[in-house]
Amino acid sequence: MPKFLRYLLIIIGILVIAAGCFAAFIAIRGIPHYTAEKITVKVEPTPARLERGKVLVSLLCKNCHMDEKTNKLTGRELAEVPQFGQVFSKNITNDPVYGIGKWTDGEIIYLLRTGLKPDGTYLPPYMAKVPHMSDEDVYSVISFLRSDNPWVAADKTVHPPTSPSFLTKFLCSMGIVKPFPYPKSVIPPPDTTNAVELGRYVAFNFECFSCHSEDFKTNDFLNPEKSKGFFGGGNSFKMQDGTVVQSLNLTPDEETGIGKWTEDEFVTAVKSGILPGGQHALRNPPMTPYAGLTDKEVKAVYVYLRSVPKIKNKVERNIVDK
Ligand code: HEC
Ligand code: HEC
Repeated sequence: MPKFLRYLLIIIGILVIAAGCFAAFIAIRGIPHYTAEKITVKVEPTPARLERGKVLVSLLCKNCHMDEKTNKLTGRELAEVPQFGQVFSKNITNDPVYGIGKWTDGEIIYLLRTGLKPDGTYLPPYMAKVPHMSDEDVYSVISFLRSDNPWVAADKTVHPPTSPSFLTKFLCSMGIVKPFPYPKSVIPPPDTTNAVELGRYVAFNFECFSCHSEDFKTNDFLNPEKSKGFFGGGNSFKMQDGTVVQSLNLTPDEETGIGKWTEDEFVTAVKSGILPGGQHALRNPPMTPYAGLTDKEVKAVYVYLRSVPKIKNKVERNIVDK
């Protein structure tokens, strides 16, 4: 064998072994731990907060934490994101042992803002975070979680622990996804007289951008507008029957986006899931109708979406007949 070939084989051999060691390191190390700060907040559950909290939890937490068997927020298997592993959301009822009854308000707020549990465990993107939500809205979520609503009544349901996929471990180990910094100052509510600002607030906080951009893996949750294919659609969801549904293009592009939609058509689609023409419904899940948003909020999203850059991206529409 010529000398150079022998060297080449040795170099390839070393590279293969190095790659194997690296993969083993990622697999064994798992998701890195961090240090969680202690935040002291005691949320006053006013009637206004409880009411707003119910809307926010219905739109933001119920999807992933509602358990059909108990009709409470006792968690379920999230089979729709197999790329991230075998994922189970947790029991977030007020049970002191099996739920979050013993967590302080500050601990829940810290997790929702940063992704870190009190012991420093980091919850990857399959647990939603709210880095952009106003302090007042976060307090409303806490008020609801602490309330006597049947959804959060103490329950002893336990699910198996999540086993993250190699992809999840890789993304976390490389710091591609990592905890968000805790906000340095109060986050004020959006100016509701400014439609673009209100629309952006809803589009960021109610996860529209997260599902409607190219891929969860390339989303920039801290600066959503920097996400790859921002609102251009194409993110995919595995359904229980094995089919794959893709999110649609919501940019103002006339052919492949919703550039030709009227405001009314948009409000109907978002709030009731019915498409223009009235004969077809959007698949739910993943596109759960946002009946809890006000018309004003959805119209504001429409106005905001008119302001995002057009993306030409034809996504196969997956219509279900009513
Ligand atoms: C996209 C799905 C998803 C959404 C939306 C979501 N969660 Fe979660 N949540 C999860 C998953 C999955 C876990 C468990 C992750 C794990 O085990 O690594 C979790 C864990 C938690 C935990 C930690 C519980 C524990 O005992 O460790 C809390 C608290 C929580 N979620 C609260 C909320 C609240 C409040 C909301 C709404 C603002 C919310 N979650 C929205 C998926 C979600
Ligand atoms: C969990 C992921 C997810 C979230 C969150 C989400 N969507 Fe969707 N959306 C989808 C999917 C998937 C479809 C396509 C459904 C189908 O093909 O039947 C869709 C379809 C739509 C459509 C129809 C577009 C068309 O061309 O027919 C509109 C409008 C829409 N979503 C708006 C929104 C808005 C506004 C929000 C936030 C308030 C939002 N979506 C949040 C996944 C999501």
